[in-house]
Amino acid sequence: MFAYRCLIFYVISLTILSASGLCIDKIVKHVGGEPIKSVINSEDTDLIKNKDNTTEQAAEEKVKIELYYECLCPYCRAFDRNHLTPTVRKLGEKYLDIHLYPYGNAETTVYDNGTIEIECQHGVPECYGNMLHACAIDQLKPLTKAIYYISCLMGTSQSHGGSNDEAADKCGTQMNIDSEPIKTCAKGPKGLELAKYYGDETNKIDFHGVPHVVVNGVEYEGDDFFHDVCEIFAHTPPECTE
Ligand SMILES: *[C@@H]1O[C@H](CO)[C@@H](O)[C@H](O)[C@H]1NC(C)=O
Ligand SMILES: *[C@@H]1O[C@H](CO)[C@@H](O)[C@H](O)[C@H]1NC(C)=O
Repeated sequence: MFAYRCLIFYVISLTILSASGLCIDKIVKHVGGEPIKSVINSEDTDLIKNKDNTTEQAAEEKVKIELYYECLCPYCRAFDRNHLTPTVRKLGEKYLDIHLYPYGNAETTVYDNGTIEIECQHGVPECYGNMLHACAIDQLKPLTKAIYYISCLMGTSQSHGGSNDEAADKCGTQMNIDSEPIKTCAKGPKGLELAKYYGDETNKIDFHGVPHVVVNGVEYEGDDFFHDVCEIFAHTPPECTE
């Protein structure tokens, strides 16, 4: 499942892709070699070794997770629902340093007159959905609340792939979250500003499709995310074995 991604070929007109809502699937080979454990840097390892109170140390150790995605990509939605959110529910911010980048294969144009234009792989609805996500991250605290709200937005039961006003309201009611300020943000300059920010962050990295998952700075391409994240900890959190 995770071996499939939403890819975009920039030689093809973005407009055509946007209009057709096309999502090109391609099998991405797993990278072999180095076990993911090796991503713990020596500094962290030393820190762990030097302390005798391992229980306290384990609580301080966090795995950094970065997810680059776009809201209407089916593989992004599957990764979020089947892997990221269940892992966050089990480990939370106590063990995870989580960063979501709702932008994916979109493209930003800044005109000389200051106008910012963003084109998304799955068209205008996706740009709006990404901004709902960005606004949720901006407004909802703690971050896990935003992550669960976003996961609800991307749930398959929502019409048109979720991440629209209907989903925003429905998830808001379900989770006791006021969706009005989130929608207002997504429809206004703040939403665009956040989209621009996530675009700039996304453009800093190289990736060949979304979801693009980075764990402790290394691209993740496995298919048992929770298990693989648990494997990284020098001292396995009890939540990993529960
Ligand atoms: C380790 O931490 C626990 C709980 O905070 C404490 O009760 C215990 O005394 C500590 N052990 C050492 C060796 O510092
Ligand atoms: C800014 O420039 C773009 C591209 O030429 C144009 O589409 C847009 O209408 C302009 N916006 C304003 C406010 O002049």
